[in-house]
Amino acid sequence: MRIATTIDEVREQIAQWKAAGRTVGLVPTMGYLHEGHQSLMDAARQACDAVVVSVFVNPIQFGPNEDFDNYPRDLERDAELCEAHGVDLVFHPSADEMYPAGFNTYVTADALAETLCGASRPGHFRGVCTVVTKLFNIVQPDLAFFGQKDAQQLAIVKGMVRDLNLPVRVVGCPIVREDDGLAKSSRNTYLSAAERQAALVLSRAVAAGQRAVEAGERDAHALKRLMLDILESEPLARVDYLEVVDGLTMQPVERIGSAALVALAVYIGSTRLIDNFIFEEPPCC
Ligand code: PAJ
Repeated sequence: MRIATTIDEVREQIAQWKAAGRTVGLVPTMGYLHEGHQSLMDAARQACDAVVVSVFVNPIQFGPNEDFDNYPRDLERDAELCEAHGVDLVFHPSADEMYPAGFNTYVTADALAETLCGASRPGHFRGVCTVVTKLFNIVQPDLAFFGQKDAQQLAIVKGMVRDLNLPVRVVGCPIVREDDGLAKSSRNTYLSAAERQAALVLSRAVAAGQRAVEAGERDAHALKRLMLDILESEPLARVDYLEVVDGLTMQPVERIGSAALVALAVYIGSTRLIDNFIFEEPPCC
């Protein structure tokens, strides 16, 4: 496995693979890899001849009061994990390599980026769309793998690929959870023991919401009330948002229809965690 820090090195390797007719899969990450990331690598390994993982804590997707400086980083461990999962190339650029002096061009998404995390984190998806576009241009992957854990990000990246005719297929992969239900996240390392316990309130609310919808609940307000009651029962939790949106447009809905996304962001202490579920209406008979 190779570790590249420059765009030129990546381009050279990709050119060789393409010349040999090999398909390329890309897994964009910010590192501090866990089983959620590993599931994307495994999916890429299954589907593509060559697998590239980018490890880059992207400064422009963090707000001024967010955790860019404290975001956990451990390249050595990440590289070992990538190697164990059959990754061929890790791309670990510096911020200067990605955003040299004079950098002036950004990619923004409109309506899809205005709700949920886009509303609480202004500029976040502009940073995501810009870095993902750059990674697509540098790596030129046939397939790129993203987690359903960041459901809005996945929808925005799919929309961007469609709207800008980017020659890549975006593959969405299911949420990977800890045994007790907590969605895996690099940010879980911020949690104290008491907060780690309190964080279970997110997956408990998700599971209860899912059961309610599967049992026939179709009223978004009633569903939110049920889930909020669970979230608000946890003293260490502060709800940032809990929304029921259309899974394609990310706009709030009142009735739960064919592909609804139920998404939440909750502060546990000062750590902001997200979780979600998608409800697909079974085809009627
Ligand atoms: P990061 O948070 O490192 O996540 C990288 C990828 O792993 C994303 O596609 C995310 O959805 C997926 N992922 C994270 N936790 C997961 C879990 N528990 N189950 C399944 N997939 C999971 O998302 C980003 O980085 C950045 O915004 C990035 C796309 C790399 C752009 O900077």
